[in-house]
Amino acid sequence: MGRFTTAMKDKKWRALNYIDLQAGPGKNRFSPSGDVMLGSPLLALTTRFAFDSLFLIEMGAQEFGALKARVGSSDLKVRAQLYNEDCNVAVNRIVNVISQVDGKFISGKWPSLNLAFLDPEGLEIQWQTVEKLAGLSRMDLIINFSTSGITRNAGLAANTEEDTSVDRFFGTRDWRSVYEDARDGGSTVVRRTLIDFYLGRLHDMGYVETKREEKEFKNQRNVQIYTMIFASKNDLGVKFWNGAVQEVRQPPLL
Ligand SMILES: C[S@@+](CC[C@H](N)C(=O)[O-])C[C@H]1O[C@@H](n2cnc3c(N)ncnc32)[C@H](O)[C@@H]1O
Repeated sequence: MGRFTTAMKDKKWRALNYIDLQAGPGKNRFSPSGDVMLGSPLLALTTRFAFDSLFLIEMGAQEFGALKARVGSSDLKVRAQLYNEDCNVAVNRIVNVISQVDGKFISGKWPSLNLAFLDPEGLEIQWQTVEKLAGLSRMDLIINFSTSGITRNAGLAANTEEDTSVDRFFGTRDWRSVYEDARDGGSTVVRRTLIDFYLGRLHDMGYVETKREEKEFKNQRNVQIYTMIFASKNDLGVKFWNGAVQEVRQPPLL
């Protein structure tokens, strides 16, 4: 986030926007160390060069209350808009707000440059929400891809007649045949295949393959629980991402 705002602050973007689809309470306590670290919305609020607008969504009542109080004590609180609702609903209003700003002609100014963070616990973020974000002209995405959420649900969902959360996550039922083909290869092949399927869907929306990167995180039993995906339509975004992930020090996960 810091690299993003630092590098882009003097360019001709009319606004630098941050969108957090699942912001959480703003701080997290890690186990077993007990260390408290800033969550994504507060990290975004405390970059050296600030975002112009921050759109922070959190559905949980308690988490939202904590987030609101924490954001409220920031000098930059007027730049933040908070939404206590399902991100799959709130995204429509946020994209409309940004589109309206982008729709006005401003001499010498480019449209807004947007960075969205998608940090679900499982499969809550529907594909139509990703599509909605991607409809904005410049939208970089950091996606916490919940591999455990997928692998926990895929077996049952693949044979369910009605639409499932996995269908809504991928925005299609085509993943089902891809999954069936990969199944005999074991869990690593299934995981890899479904991530690639998702990346292919991003690619089809203009997030070209050479311009996205993944970072894998594992728990203490060395089981992969999520993969971080960065997707940009622009080479420069990937350059920043590559630099940023090199600095990542993973906190211990249970
Ligand atoms: C993994 S946490 C987010 C952590 C946060 N990004 C951070 O860095 O600290 C996911 C959050 O999403 C919220 N949530 C779950 N489903 C949601 C939905 N459909 N829309 C918005 N928020 C949701 C949960 O209450 C939870 O606080």
